[in-house]
Amino acid sequence: MTPPKGKSAAAEAETKAPAKKAKARKKGAATASAKATAQKAPPARRARAKKAASAQGTRRVEKPAREGFIPRIVVFACNWCSYAGADTAGVSRIQYSPHFRIIRVMCSGRVHPAFILRAFELGADGVLVSGCHFGDCHYIFGNERAVEQFEKTKALLKILGVEEGRIRLEWISAAEGVKFARVIDEFVEQVRALGPSKLAPPERELPQKAEAFADVAALAK
Ligand code: FES
Repeated sequence: MTPPKGKSAAAEAETKAPAKKAKARKKGAATASAKATAQKAPPARRARAKKAASAQGTRRVEKPAREGFIPRIVVFACNWCSYAGADTAGVSRIQYSPHFRIIRVMCSGRVHPAFILRAFELGADGVLVSGCHFGDCHYIFGNERAVEQFEKTKALLKILGVEEGRIRLEWISAAEGVKFARVIDEFVEQVRALGPSKLAPPERELPQKAEAFADVAALAK
């Protein structure tokens, strides 16, 4: 005897239901396994994903890559030691970064904070002050004065929001051509990592001569 038509449909539905449930369970298991795989991703990838997520959430603007940036450095070098040290580097044909302008001063103690601020105003990304070693200054205490001036400059730049790494004080003698080249290379890389200075005007032309500092020099007497 054949079962009535209605009953057969119900029976069919009953047999399909467990199949559907099994399919859904399978799908859920697949999603869970995908999540687990994502969690098992290498730490670097997870860190990158976390960083991107946090940047999106807080709208933090990441600093651009410094790859193509060429920093502009002004070097104040004392006539008797560091300027001669630069000369020694040149005469010895030492290869080093060319991204700097050297301004000769008679002593590192002459570098008033106004000189450094003017250099930044004219477009420098970093300023290096260099003089004779202690005990070698031709004006006896000139380099000790340079240290005081440098500390004042650091405090001023901090107020202006300029990173401390944009200025450096070094003692380089006339015989230390290798040191001069090394300091320049290190400083250029240090400033490159910091990126362009906030104080630099868009159309900037670095000073070529000490005359660019004549007005501040008059003020700083
Ligand atoms: S003369 Fe070189 S630091 Fe004074």
